[in-house]
Amino acid sequence: MSSPIVKRFLLSIPIVCLLYLLLSKTPQGPADIFAFKRFHRSQEQLRIPINRLIVNDSDCRRIPIPLKVQHADSEGLLNADFINPVGASKIKAPRALTDLTQCPSSPNQFTGHIRLPNVLYNISMSPITATSKDTRRFWNPTIFALPYWSKNQYLIVNMVASHGELYRRNVLCEANICHPPSETFKNSREKSCTEDDLEILGSNGGLRCVTTPIEVDVPPTPAERCDGMEELLADIPGFHDPRLFYSGRGEPILMVASQSRYACIGLWAIDLRAVYPDIKETFASSPRRLGPGPLMSYPTLTELTRNPPSTRRSYEKNWVMFSPSSLVSYLQYELNSTTRTFAQLIGAGLTTTNQTDISEEPCLSEPTPLDVSGGHFVAGASWHQATPALKLVLCTRSNSTCTNRFGETVFFAVIHKKHVNEYGLPMRYERYFVVWSATPPFNMLGVSQNPILLANETSRGWTAEEIWDDVEETRSGSRTEWGQFTYTTTIAYAWGREESDIREKGMGYLDDEVILSVGIDDQNGLYAKVKVSDLLQCLRICPGRMPIW
Ligand SMILES: *[C@@H]1O[C@H](CO)[C@@H](O)[C@H](O)[C@H]1NC(C)=O
Ligand SMILES: *[C@@H]1O[C@H](CO)[C@@H](O)[C@H](O)[C@H]1NC(C)=O
Ligand SMILES: *[C@@H]1O[C@H](CO)[C@@H](O)[C@H](O)[C@H]1NC(C)=O
Ligand SMILES: *[C@@H]1O[C@H](CO)[C@@H](O)[C@H](O)[C@H]1NC(C)=O
Ligand SMILES: *[C@@H]1O[C@H](CO)[C@@H](O)[C@H](O)[C@H]1NC(C)=O
Ligand SMILES: *[C@@H]1O[C@H](CO)[C@@H](O)[C@H](O)[C@H]1NC(C)=O
Repeated sequence: MSSPIVKRFLLSIPIVCLLYLLLSKTPQGPADIFAFKRFHRSQEQLRIPINRLIVNDSDCRRIPIPLKVQHADSEGLLNADFINPVGASKIKAPRALTDLTQCPSSPNQFTGHIRLPNVLYNISMSPITATSKDTRRFWNPTIFALPYWSKNQYLIVNMVASHGELYRRNVLCEANICHPPSETFKNSREKSCTEDDLEILGSNGGLRCVTTPIEVDVPPTPAERCDGMEELLADIPGFHDPRLFYSGRGEPILMVASQSRYACIGLWAIDLRAVYPDIKETFASSPRRLGPGPLMSYPTLTELTRNPPSTRRSYEKNWVMFSPSSLVSYLQYELNSTTRTFAQLIGAGLTTTNQTDISEEPCLSEPTPLDVSGGHFVAGASWHQATPALKLVLCTRSNSTCTNRFGETVFFAVIHKKHVNEYGLPMRYERYFVVWSATPPFNMLGVSQNPILLANETSRGWTAEEIWDDVEETRSGSRTEWGQFTYTTTIAYAWGREESDIREKGMGYLDDEVILSVGIDDQNGLYAKVKVSDLLQCLRICPGRMPIW
């Protein structure tokens, strides 16, 4: 630490911080001004005020001091769209995240997956009150955990198989989990299965509707500028890919893909209370907070956009919203091995321009030539964002010294690596977890080293022998394939935690449990319940983010 250059650098840190604080104290921080100018150029006609980027003064103090001096590239800075005076590239992964780089076991030698011991449970859309069993096929389950004070635990939205009709139908019900009577369970409000439940769900119990599934009635949207191949898809009425999650303010947000006002297909958001008013009362009856519940950012169906408009694609999908605080939300449009794009939502579905840190190196990878030569991978796999993002404080709920205020926070989500066969048709989705910082500029911090499978899940592309190679117990028994094409649409903190505020629904701790929904072969829905620290084990820290101790 005695080298003069390091000393000079250490001295300059307070100066940079001071400059940063001064700039952020002015009505608009530096990033705001740039974003605002560009926004004005591209969307002159709209005069919607921009929220300030959340810049917390203490963020500056929290930046770890790097031991290596990094030379700023002035040329690069001048040409850059987004200037971060603190030097975002110096942000390192918190130590608690590096603890998650340990792997529970070595990966399957053929498929490369890590298998978690958590089993998959059945989901039934046949409610208890039904006089006859619902024989429709449901898939694409999206599960939303209601607050602990609500009458029922979950809300499920499922796609209904179309039987040839050209219409996309999604149904919703309230649902509860039941356990087989033989099982002991820790939460006294969890339910024991009845005979009828066991008959419908199978011997392990599962998640079952308690209200009759009703069609999710979202107004149709027009495809206003759509031609070419995608016109066919845009002609099918109804929405698809519903996602349900909590905003930072505790609003229940339903995000769907539907016909776009600007092109073929776009993403839209609406407050679930506007679609399903039955849950209004639950949101307005928090035992520890009086009032009507969180204000609605999306009282009506609102199209989410990209800025500048020239960057909009004709078919948009798989966007992920994340809320670092109760005041601001961001949209992450794409995340793959070459590109990451996200922007801040500024109201009415409008956004700032791309806010991705220019110095961020890609964290995701593609199959290597060696993988490809092995015959199980084809070059050109692609990454697809799959689930909403959850906020996570990197310590356990049981650690009383750790509160939201002192713990390091990150976001995590599931991302699928989509593999196609030699004809370009989808062959399998691999499930990975990605982790990014909850502090601007929200750098990517880590990703699962290996794809994650659940206890009895199989995956297309290998023989059953190869897939079960990592499971000793199946050595003598039959090794069959089951569920070849699985994908995940939900991660949500499981029902039953005692949140003190609805705004805590979207955040949790390492020892909290997460519900993970699994769609299977486009014809069924299942779920698993896994502790966060188990889901996120065996991470790889992104390039440049490994802390130096
Ligand atoms: C900034 O963060 C610190 C601790 O992380 C907190 O005490 C403070 O209230 C925050 N300030 C604002 C304006 O959010
Ligand atoms: C795996 O679990 C699901 C859901 O519980 C069940 O339907 C299926 O039969 C199981 N498959 C195997 C191979 O055990
Ligand atoms: C799930 O339901 C299927 C029938 O739909 C049944 O065969 C299977 O055993 C059930 N799984 C469990 C774990 O009970
Ligand atoms: C990553 O995403 C961008 C934007 O969607 C796309 O242009 C690029 O081709 C993708 N990269 C790969 C390797 O698929
Ligand atoms: C957004 O910014 C990042 C970082 O500069 C860049 O890699 C990415 O390509 C940008 N996205 C778009 C759509 O330009
Ligand atoms: C509890 O949390 C604090 C703050 O994050 C951390 O420093 C400490 O190591 C944690 N204690 C244990 C036993 O994990």
